[in-house]
Amino acid sequence: MFKAEQFIKENVEHLKKTVKGKALIAFSGGVDSAVCAELVHKAIGNDLIAVHIDTGFMRKNESAQVKDLMKDLELNFKFIDASKQYFTKLKGVIDPEKKRKIIGNLFIELFEKVAKKEKIEYLVQGTIAPDWIESGDDLRDTIKSHHNVGGLPENMNLKLIEPLRDLYKDEVRILARALNMSVSERQPFPGPGLAIRIIGEATQERTEIVREACFIVEDEIEKASKNESMELPWQYFAVLLPVKSVGVHGDKRAYGDVIAIRAVQSIDAMTCMYSEIPNSVIDKISTRITNSLGEKINRVVYDVTHKPPGTVEWE
Ligand code: XMP
Repeated sequence: MFKAEQFIKENVEHLKKTVKGKALIAFSGGVDSAVCAELVHKAIGNDLIAVHIDTGFMRKNESAQVKDLMKDLELNFKFIDASKQYFTKLKGVIDPEKKRKIIGNLFIELFEKVAKKEKIEYLVQGTIAPDWIESGDDLRDTIKSHHNVGGLPENMNLKLIEPLRDLYKDEVRILARALNMSVSERQPFPGPGLAIRIIGEATQERTEIVREACFIVEDEIEKASKNESMELPWQYFAVLLPVKSVGVHGDKRAYGDVIAIRAVQSIDAMTCMYSEIPNSVIDKISTRITNSLGEKINRVVYDVTHKPPGTVEWE
């Protein structure tokens, strides 16, 4: 049984002894980075600066919610809108690993800039066990480079602190509950954001499509779980595929893209089972997506793959 109180006490003590100076935390607003921020904040107070980077690949209204959360947690924070830089760097990039590396590297570049200006010595990341296990090393194959692990340059000037490195997601949630944090039950969202839910080039236009589709999937599934039509999955979202198919809008031929619905149950993200979504809910999602995304999307499919062999995210 994971002992949250003991973990918090020992970690805060350890952080007090080891972090001697200012630290910067990469704050995405997810449960990992929020718990990490809370622990380090308890240890060094306002010497911790939380930096949220809006990459342009956040979900609908998410960056505004992250800002509110940083205020609620009384963190000393900075908000950087870097969306233009991300879209420029990702122009023409299709390979998933290249996308992940570009996104991770730009994160670090932006953090290093802040760190230099503010004379910060430490970088705090909410890395958890599946992140570094899947990112590979001498012993393991790289399944995918999780951006908070795979994007770190070898000659990074900042000293790295990863208080949650040995924990799995269910344990991080136990910590969040013990710390009374509102984000404790939030579904996971990957560091590279919607960019890895757009298969192929992550342009601004394609990002708007997947953002709306993700919003619809979340909204319908949350409504269905509230009225007890289904159990809330561990994670549920939309993926935009680079596949065109023929459809019909009114009496006109349409040639649009495909959205895949992905919903999974998991405990620790190392394995997962696809979630059974009732047909009535799939129907609502499909109709809403094709209605609101007009001629851009004329087909919706449902991913029924477990992990393994599929990973949770498609890239
Ligand atoms: P996969 O797709 O590897 O995902 O089965 C396992 C869990 O990790 C999330 N994920 C990430 N989280 N940085 C993160 O912090 C990343 O680069 C990243 N890639 C995937 C994914 O959403 C799932 O919950």
